Amino acid sequence: MTTRSIDNLIAELNSLAQISAEAPPVVTRVVFSEADLRARAYVKSLCATAGLTIHEDAIGNTFARWEGSDPHIAPIGTGSHIDAIPNAGAYDGTVGVLGGLEAIRVLQQMGFQPRRSIELVIFTAEEPTRFGIGCLGSRMMGSVLSPAQALQLRDKDGVGLEELRTQAGFKGALSTVALSQDRFHRFIELHIEQGPALEEQGIDLGLVTHIAAPASLRVLIEGEGGHAGAKLMPGRKDALAAGAELVLALEAAVLATGSLDTVGTVGVCEVFPGAVNSIPSRVRLETDIRDISGVRRDLVLSAFNEACSNVGLKRGVTITTQLVNADPPATCDEEILTVMERAAIDAGKSYKQMVSRAYHDSLFMARITPVAMLFIPCRGGVSHRPDEYASPEWIGAGVHVLARTLATLAL
Ligand code: GLV
Ligand code: MN
Ligand code: MN
Repeated sequence: MTTRSIDNLIAELNSLAQISAEAPPVVTRVVFSEADLRARAYVKSLCATAGLTIHEDAIGNTFARWEGSDPHIAPIGTGSHIDAIPNAGAYDGTVGVLGGLEAIRVLQQMGFQPRRSIELVIFTAEEPTRFGIGCLGSRMMGSVLSPAQALQLRDKDGVGLEELRTQAGFKGALSTVALSQDRFHRFIELHIEQGPALEEQGIDLGLVTHIAAPASLRVLIEGEGGHAGAKLMPGRKDALAAGAELVLALEAAVLATGSLDTVGTVGVCEVFPGAVNSIPSRVRLETDIRDISGVRRDLVLSAFNEACSNVGLKRGVTITTQLVNADPPATCDEEILTVMERAAIDAGKSYKQMVSRAYHDSLFMARITPVAMLFIPCRGGVSHRPDEYASPEWIGAGVHVLARTLATLAL
């Protein structure tokens, strides 16, 4: 990687970060929002300038292809996402998209001629912000979410996926989004670690061997509202007091596994009517539970479901749960890991094998093709925050090793 190539990539990452629903340094790019559409246009213009052929599917997944000398064999895929949760930073997902593009441009400039085509994939809605479910685009590619299930999805204003995707310009049958097992030969995703290990240990790269299993459960608690002064405590059916018990019950179920690999979070708590002098009559919780072991993750889910029944009975409130997703973990492909390791050694970069505790589109690409992920450090392990940061050196090392890996796999 030349200094010029890294400088150019950093400038593009900075330009992309300016395309946000909120003032910099905050990056907020919710899928199908105006900022998301502008960001897509920017990235597509860079791909077109690099001579890539662009194709978009019915949900907006974007494929930018560098044609190999044998166009009839399955391509190597690389890429990630450009949507960003509210109050996010500039590197989550974008390093895999613009870094993937830069890896292609580096190979082009070297005069490399791939036999297999190399396709950059920009996935729609890796983040669950709008529809409550993560990895929408890759989930549909991997046939984990059916078109009928996708059509049920609505945002918090009740607007359906169908209306939103067509407004965004994505038409055609959703059934065409699912990909066959031979559509890609291999898929590699470059991403920031989103944890502190690489930086703390002074290691350039993480070669991801497994991706943890995520699950999400929605909980609706219906109690009884009333006047916060006039209604005495005996006989109250306070939905938020029940919700508070459930937040702690989830924490207890997670801690009871005794494993540091199990995590659980209640990240959304909506209270109705949300007035200081009114007893909460309705509460909606959204939970996120993960583990590298799908079995242990499911034990936590069962324990939490049981807590929902118990708290409902004890407090006389009605608690209903809806499982949004419970995905199995993914194991990365040995062959790609070996090629990445060789590439790291040849590039003079230090590396270690590691697990991804965050989920990524690769989790669903793994349903249709062998995958692996390449992590670079991020400062302080910070992610999903405006102060998320990866240095040009870290990004440059990731792109360098990605380019070498793509080149070997595309031969
Ligand atoms: C992805 O953004 C995740 O929450 O792991
Ligand atoms: Mn993210
Ligand atoms: Mn991401």
